[in-house]
Amino acid sequence: MAMSDRGTWGSRFGFVLAASGSAVGLGNIWGFPTKVGQNGGGAFVLVYLACVIFICLPILIAELAIGRRTSSDPVGAYSKLRPGTRWWMAGGLGVAAGFGVLSFYSVIAGWALAYIWFTAIGTVSSDALESAAFFTEFTGRAPINLLLTFVMLASTAGVLLGGIRSGIERVSKLLMPVLALLLIILAIRAVTLPGAAEGLAYYLKPDFSKALNFGTLNAALGQAFFSLSLGLGTMLVYGSYLTKREGIARAAIMVVAVDTSLALLAGFMIFPSGFSIPGFDPSATGPGLIFIVLPQLFATLPGGQFFGATFFILLTVAALTSAISLLEVPVAHLIDSHGWKRTRAVLIVMIATFALAIPSALANGASDFFTHLPVIGLDFLTVMITVWNDFALPMGGLFTAVFVGYVWRIDNALEELLAEQAWFPGRQLWGMLIRYACPAAIFLIIFGTLRGMIT
Ligand code: PHE
Repeated sequence: MAMSDRGTWGSRFGFVLAASGSAVGLGNIWGFPTKVGQNGGGAFVLVYLACVIFICLPILIAELAIGRRTSSDPVGAYSKLRPGTRWWMAGGLGVAAGFGVLSFYSVIAGWALAYIWFTAIGTVSSDALESAAFFTEFTGRAPINLLLTFVMLASTAGVLLGGIRSGIERVSKLLMPVLALLLIILAIRAVTLPGAAEGLAYYLKPDFSKALNFGTLNAALGQAFFSLSLGLGTMLVYGSYLTKREGIARAAIMVVAVDTSLALLAGFMIFPSGFSIPGFDPSATGPGLIFIVLPQLFATLPGGQFFGATFFILLTVAALTSAISLLEVPVAHLIDSHGWKRTRAVLIVMIATFALAIPSALANGASDFFTHLPVIGLDFLTVMITVWNDFALPMGGLFTAVFVGYVWRIDNALEELLAEQAWFPGRQLWGMLIRYACPAAIFLIIFGTLRGMIT
């Protein structure tokens, strides 16, 4: 299929906003602070930054290069570069992960949507137990959760029907600046709360005794992959809509900078807020940090209904631009590799994802079976998050690094990266990271976690 039929980004700015829209999501605002809290604060932040710079940035560049070279979906891309081999399966893992991640992502995005309303009308209590009970009661109701999940998926599909430029790019250009602005307002509000200093100290002062074990390393790496939308072909697909005019390295650095600053900024908003609540324990909060602790704070703050609703609008918008990019992976696959029309691909993928989302939507009390899965005892949603975030995405990254480093090879990738004399200062270092550091680090971390799980 000719490039013009598939669509391209209108400008580098458009690409950077769309790719940042993909990257900045629940992972930054919900996942990052939660993981920092569960893994001991400041030291985790440093481990995270190291993963971003030395592992994720090189892989992001690699994914974009594969995408642009082949102008294809992940399956098509690997098979174009190595026809007749099994490498297409690495792309297939990505397409499956697009479904898998979106199926649980849309459930959580649905909660964010509902909390806009809950905080705006002030239904959440300032009491910790009551706020927790409210969340449990709400997430345990089947019809409303299914409806919210469906609304999020349908809005995502609505944007994708518009295609690349007038769908994804236009919506990202509109929503990303709004999102950054809301986050800045909320962070300023948070650091001026009483108790903010304690929260900042927790967030910024590293305590290494807590961070240097496989569990933490894996959490940091998984989080970094997830946050940068890596390892499932999203960036490969977004790269496939780039024209040769745009320098990949520069665009990649911009996306990493936006994503990482917004994750860090989310920490500046969450920890001071949390610590301003008496008796707050960051390590004991887990996912409830956003849906239980913060609403509790908004319930006491002057203007809390306003700030609360603003926060959840922010979360919903961030989730929407990421969901768009998740849905686009299987959609691009059906269009590029199977010749489907965009409308048909979008609608079918949306319905299939909704079907897969049902067990996750019912996994918080609405269905006993999905809330306590037989044998493992965990809820379905948690299992999905672990399988996709902690394993599938790093595995996808491992495949990308090995493929580019040893199969497609660095010089061929560099030819793509340096097209039209593009700026790429650290190219040798990049090659070494892709060939040695990325595969070794990812492998060690996945292996270490598995061993920790088994023993
Ligand atoms: N990066 C998104 C977030 O931080 C999630 C995502 C992962 C989107 C993988 C696309 C691909 O929430």
